[in-house]
Amino acid sequence: MVEFVKKKFENRNGIISFEIKDTETKKVTSFYQETPFPNYKDEDNKQTILEKGNKNFLAAQFKKFIGYKKSILEVGCGTGQLSIYFSIGTNNNVVALDPTIQSLNLAKKFADSNSISNIKFLNADIFDDVLTDQYFDFIWCNGVLHHTKDPYGAFKILIKSLKSKGYVLIGLYNKYGRLRTVIRRYLYKLFGKKFLEKIDPTLKNLKLDENEKNAWIRDQYIHPIESLHTIDEVLKWFDENNIDFVSSIPSSDFDFDYKNIFEKKSRGSLYSRIINQFTMIFNSLGSDGGLFVLIGKKH
Ligand SMILES: C[S@@+](CC[C@H](N)C(=O)[O-])C[C@H]1O[C@@H](n2cnc3c(N)ncnc32)[C@H](O)[C@@H]1O
Repeated sequence: MVEFVKKKFENRNGIISFEIKDTETKKVTSFYQETPFPNYKDEDNKQTILEKGNKNFLAAQFKKFIGYKKSILEVGCGTGQLSIYFSIGTNNNVVALDPTIQSLNLAKKFADSNSISNIKFLNADIFDDVLTDQYFDFIWCNGVLHHTKDPYGAFKILIKSLKSKGYVLIGLYNKYGRLRTVIRRYLYKLFGKKFLEKIDPTLKNLKLDENEKNAWIRDQYIHPIESLHTIDEVLKWFDENNIDFVSSIPSSDFDFDYKNIFEKKSRGSLYSRIINQFTMIFNSLGSDGGLFVLIGKKH
């Protein structure tokens, strides 16, 4: 008996599994099966994952805000590094969901060999709607819905499993902010990998090994399914599903206050939202792939 799923499942090597049947999702899983994302390095352990997480200001704030004894769902966890970060040193119950079993196998192996027991891995497709209603205190879904056939449909399914007063974080590729990546994608097609390595800021990072570089190139430049979104679109999703806007990155108003992203901020105006998303093209948000994030709280 597992409380957080409402449908009959199989236990495959300690991973709660549902058969992945959807053809679009299968395109994505066969893509990640070749280069699971993000990759683990041989020397990775509890400490290195903790350090990596603490350096990610969004993840570190989230972990601090959650506190203890909460149920957390990460949707599209890939190899589960972030979910593992949320589990380390807490008594929270973390559920890490992904349809790519090869990624989850790596995650499970890492959790087992580092004696991390407050995390469960769930091999499922969002669209199969397997999660128990009103179960989680927090849902983290970053960099995932734009790789599905119907991002809003997926959002509506996910949000059912969030408790009242629970928080959701959604990260998506931005229609304006991803312009630099879209241009680089054309240049990559024309001039190849060596040229891309000269113009992609992430690939210029000397600390990345060849596997990490290849995983990044595949994820950013040759993904089979990718869509682009705006803050206004996600605000509409929130409004239609009883979710109050809490904050966004970039800011929706001209306040640019990211010290506490779980504190309620102004939604700004259409004008401020467009300007701030357009500005992403010229700042680090745009150079790193153009992800924007919205946080909401269920009524
Ligand atoms: C770009 S990776 C992001 C991984 C991780 N969230 C991160 O930020 O590093 C996208 C992930 O979304 C997952 N995904 C794609 N379609 C999905 C679906 N229908 N249901 C659940 N997860 C899905 C993929 O398997 C993949 O692990």
